[in-house]
Amino acid sequence: MERILQTSQFYIPQGFIDLGLGDPQFSLLPLEMMHKAADERFCQNDPEFLQYGARQGDGVFRQSLAEFLSRGYAFPVEPNSLFITSGASMGLHLICTFFTRPGDIIFVEEPTYFFALRIFADHDLHLVPIRTDENGLVIEALEEKLAESRPKFLYIIPTYQNPTGHTLSAERREQLVSLSHKHDFLVVADEVYHFLSYAGQPPKPLAANIESGNIISLGSFSKILAPGLRLGWMQANAEIIQRFVNSGLLNSGGGMNPFTSAIVSRVLETGKLDENISKLITTYRSRITVMDASLRRNLPRFKYTLPQGGYFFWIHLPNGINATQFQRQAEIFKVGFRSGALFSSQGGKQDYIRLSYVFYEPDELEQGVLRLKQCLENWNS
Ligand SMILES: Cc1ncc(COP(=O)(O)O)c(C=O)c1O
Repeated sequence: MERILQTSQFYIPQGFIDLGLGDPQFSLLPLEMMHKAADERFCQNDPEFLQYGARQGDGVFRQSLAEFLSRGYAFPVEPNSLFITSGASMGLHLICTFFTRPGDIIFVEEPTYFFALRIFADHDLHLVPIRTDENGLVIEALEEKLAESRPKFLYIIPTYQNPTGHTLSAERREQLVSLSHKHDFLVVADEVYHFLSYAGQPPKPLAANIESGNIISLGSFSKILAPGLRLGWMQANAEIIQRFVNSGLLNSGGGMNPFTSAIVSRVLETGKLDENISKLITTYRSRITVMDASLRRNLPRFKYTLPQGGYFFWIHLPNGINATQFQRQAEIFKVGFRSGALFSSQGGKQDYIRLSYVFYEPDELEQGVLRLKQCLENWNS
């Protein structure tokens, strides 16, 4: 039987290099760190973390998380502004549950995170795409759409966007916040890549504006520690937080993930999270250098801006090549990627592909790029 590599969502046949995969490499998952943190927590001989948890999330954990965020964001984050989730995806699902009804209009970036599109489909939302460029969401395009309709919310990934890697400029952030007031809509800022910065600091997260009332910021341990923890947070003003805290879901089940929170609390208290982030940044930064050099050497007609953070290269294919067709051919050469149309709410972006560097070693990344080159040569002939 053919051996397969199993990741969270995909099966990869042996010898296949799936450059589309956005899951961290197994060797980058902090097994020992988590083992130690769990040991330490169990040795406290305090069973509280096995009880139903506080609805907003454990207070001690929120305090440690708030301290971590205050340092990282360079502005004070209040523990009370945090609501613990079991990941950004769950946060997004809850926001849809509490703030929308089927058929409601929401605005999304074009392109955007494809699994977010799946969550919105689960809630039968009507999506209106807003154009983006190298500086993120185009404010004039947003204004045009606002003249036509008012969304329940705008979903945006402001920093190191998935799939484009682009970051919303500081000026546009300000304009966006002011438009959210003028037109009275909620901004759901998915800020899961904020801490994975490889070249200087990004602008302040939209989380800086929660007190103004129209922003919910989503954060997650998936990209900075381990996705299997299913642990994240929402940051919002008191009124919004109460909406979640007072839900039937939380009434019945208590806070999300108290067990994991207690273990990750140890990771935060011992400064290990910062250590892990530094390691990831060093690793990903060097992989970007390798991949960029390999792409420029082998596929000079592939156009992209060098990722400054996050997980992805977003590449424009030459000569209007259709990415989905190219993907079929790439499979013959045992290399994969995500085709652009996946990320479009309208089936656009067909001449783009998304590559990632988080799952493979540098030599495998180079090998993957070489296979793409062979595929392209074959395509042209
Ligand atoms: C933009 C974005 N949001 C959310 C997620 C998923 O986050 P979580 O694992 O916290 O649910 C991802 C993962 O790829 C992502 O890219």
